[in-house]
Amino acid sequence: MRSGILENYQDLLPLNERTPGYSLCEGSTPLVHLRNLSREMSIDLNVKFEGLNPTGSFKDRGMVLAVAKAVENGARALICASTGNTSASAAAYAAHAGLNCYVLLPSGFVAKGKLAQALIYGAKVISITGNFDKALELARDASREFGLAIVNSVNPYRLIGQRTASWEICDELGKSPEWLFIPVGNAGNISAYYAGFLKYRSLGRIARIPRLMGIQAEGASPMVSREMIDHPETIATAIRIGKPVSYTKAVKAVRNTEGAFISVSDDEIMNAQKMLAQKDGIFAEPASCATIAGIWKLFLQGDLPSGISVTCILTGNGLKDPEAPMKYLPDPVEIEGDWMSLKEVLNK
Ligand code: F0G
Repeated sequence: MRSGILENYQDLLPLNERTPGYSLCEGSTPLVHLRNLSREMSIDLNVKFEGLNPTGSFKDRGMVLAVAKAVENGARALICASTGNTSASAAAYAAHAGLNCYVLLPSGFVAKGKLAQALIYGAKVISITGNFDKALELARDASREFGLAIVNSVNPYRLIGQRTASWEICDELGKSPEWLFIPVGNAGNISAYYAGFLKYRSLGRIARIPRLMGIQAEGASPMVSREMIDHPETIATAIRIGKPVSYTKAVKAVRNTEGAFISVSDDEIMNAQKMLAQKDGIFAEPASCATIAGIWKLFLQGDLPSGISVTCILTGNGLKDPEAPMKYLPDPVEIEGDWMSLKEVLNK
């Protein structure tokens, strides 16, 4: 039977005999070689498809550990704020562990699939006016006041669990990639990758840490502008965040690896989503495609050295948010259900 990250990386995670061994078989996601985009950009491009985790995003890695540690410490209920994926994951692992779960969402800015997930897994969903940053502030207050275990990335176990993705990449490649592109919202995941690579280097399993390229949406790019934003806006709702909690850690991760923060426009993100799907057969959500937009931008500017090995983190599944691409994709061709009508279309 397949196992999850707690079993696969038990030696590197803070587990003890009182930590429940939860698993929805998270992790072990595929590293897919993009044959067409690699050829077009003259690089060796692999994507880590985190959208194939149990709830369709990378959040499951940190969530399984955060929930196990919460139960170990006697928690009865969880709380989180979310742009959608964290809440889907928290709700699923709460169900798995038999806990109650409260989620705070920015009203009107959570993709439908993610909202459906939180509801179907049985979380108590609370929609607030205001953005993610406000929701997180409220969730932190509620966690203190009501003794609820907060499972946002302010919970250190979340980021520790997320390190496992960096380890899987190195285990599979037998080394680290030269460059790594990753979308940045609350800036937790890029910090987790950096910590994961540092750990592997200290164990002698890799020689070098990749250059970390953090990609943000133009309207929500505090890491690029170096100042917090009150009203973040982007079609990539997963990263519609103006005040990243892990700001300082992420700055360090990028500085120490000679990487960079780059912003891409919503149009560039949606073009990249289509390009990834139509050239290489992978459907990832808009926030994830910011990474492809970032690589493409560097390529067009002539700033992408040829021949380098690049890994790109596709953090979430495209099926979570079908409405975003449907806004610009053509409608299906409608015909009468008869042979003549079909022939007419196929002859065109
Ligand atoms: N990609 C996806 C699909 C996400 O859902 C998120 C964050 C990120 C990237 C950015 O990761 O915050 O660690 O920098 N989603 C959070 C949520 C905020 O609530 O689901 P980060």
